[in-house]
Amino acid sequence: MTLSLRKKIIFLNLFLLILATVSASLFISYQLQRYYQAREFERLHSQAVTFQFLLSQDFWNQYSRRENYQILSGLADTANLRLTLIDSAGTVIFDSRVRMDSLEFVENHLYRPEIQMALREGIGRDIRVSTTVNLPLFYVAVRRNPDLNIARPFQNTAFIRTAMDLVAMHRALRDIRHRIYWGSAVAILLISAIAYLASRRLADPITRLAQVAREVKEGNLNARFHPITHDEIGELARLLNQMLAKLREDLKKMRKLQTMRSQFLGNVSHELRTPIFALQGFLETLLHQNIDDPQQRRRFLEKAYQVSVRLDNLLSDLIDISRIESGEMKMSFRYFDVHEWLEKMCQEWQTKAGERGIRLHFTPPFEPKSGMTVLGDTERLNQVMTNLIDNAIKYNVPGGQVEVGYRPVADGVEIFVRDTGQGIPKEHVSRIFERFYRVDKQRSRDIGGTGLGLAIVKHIVEAHGSQIRVKSQPGEGSEFSFALKIKPAASSS
Ligand SMILES: Nc1ncnc2c1ncn2[C@@H]1O[C@H](COP(=O)(O)OP(=O)(O)OP(=O)(O)O)[C@@H](O)[C@H]1O
Ligand SMILES: [Mg+2]
Repeated sequence: MTLSLRKKIIFLNLFLLILATVSASLFISYQLQRYYQAREFERLHSQAVTFQFLLSQDFWNQYSRRENYQILSGLADTANLRLTLIDSAGTVIFDSRVRMDSLEFVENHLYRPEIQMALREGIGRDIRVSTTVNLPLFYVAVRRNPDLNIARPFQNTAFIRTAMDLVAMHRALRDIRHRIYWGSAVAILLISAIAYLASRRLADPITRLAQVAREVKEGNLNARFHPITHDEIGELARLLNQMLAKLREDLKKMRKLQTMRSQFLGNVSHELRTPIFALQGFLETLLHQNIDDPQQRRRFLEKAYQVSVRLDNLLSDLIDISRIESGEMKMSFRYFDVHEWLEKMCQEWQTKAGERGIRLHFTPPFEPKSGMTVLGDTERLNQVMTNLIDNAIKYNVPGGQVEVGYRPVADGVEIFVRDTGQGIPKEHVSRIFERFYRVDKQRSRDIGGTGLGLAIVKHIVEAHGSQIRVKSQPGEGSEFSFALKIKPAASSS
């Protein structure tokens, strides 16, 4: 059986308490008995001496032997003791509890322990049950003083013995012992109650901590430890609460990450399925339907090819994003001329813009070009500009314009891509950087978008210590911008 902490404390207290009271009462009653016996010994001794003095008086000679016997018996009874006179041979010549006529039946007393002791030392004592009166008696015997003349009827007296029965003393002692026991019992009850309450105060907070801990173990992370005391236990409760709070937070993050991951996986499979189905469709048509017209056959093949290009783009975007998010993608920063870079970028996109009927301008802030040097990973920044310009063309309106440029800002250069396109409704602006997020899913998909472009852009720009910003007005157009750090002036010369 396992005992609770509280019960252990109570039982230990009780055990110590009972041990202490029992040994204290035993010790006290033993001491009391010794004290009483010493006092009674003194009394019996002084009475023996008093009787010896009384027996040496002359008045005993006036009365008969029988009268003397009765007077002496009366005196002993009044003094509340038993008086015995014994001669040197051990013969009892007077006993206050024996009638004079029966004296001859009393056995010889010479070998009684108190008489033997008195013979040797002058005073003797003993405690035993008397064979004569059948009671526990305390005997004190005194050897007669030879200088005193004992009156005639008792002149052979050699030992004066006084005795009292111990019944009264035992009763008194028993009374006292009982009082001590009752007192102890009351004390034990009282102290037990106090110990019980104290132990409760002590063990209760621990019991409660254990209860809450059990709840936590069963999975309730919202349980709270209550720091009810201001001691180490309270401190422990506070620490456990902090631990739980941290655990809750970590768990929340983990769950969020998990849902994000499974959502991502769901999105990926969904995005992959669409082009693969399309590809299957085109190939099936080519395989099973007799298409004699070579031009029509070529159209199907071209469509299949386009889909495969889209699949390839999607896969490389996916690889990029997972490499960026796992921290695998390393940036290699170097200084380069922002003007040259953007000018080249625009030249490359001229054809594609033209094909879509969009006019693409490069608008540097001033002429001639000043050769501003910025820090960045050109390969990754190419990816950023490719997507921003691609979006500006894709989500434009027929005959629209795209403007790419840069302008100096505090400690850097801000690069922008501006279009006169359809713009982005306000409620979508904050979400377009999420993976797979598209304002108009069908339209985006039709023009080949997967919604990963801006997510990649955001990651890359942030890896450059910057932020991507959007300003957009539905029906008027959008502007995407971000800043790059400029090479410090001192080292630029
Ligand atoms: N310049 C813009 N004008 C209007 N809407 C835009 C513009 N740029 C982005 N968007 C909206 O934001 C969405 C997300 O853009 P993002 O570049 O991430 O995806 P995408 O271009 O559709 O696909 P991907 O870039 O992966 O080929 C787009 O689908 C579009 O709805
Ligand atoms: Mg895009």
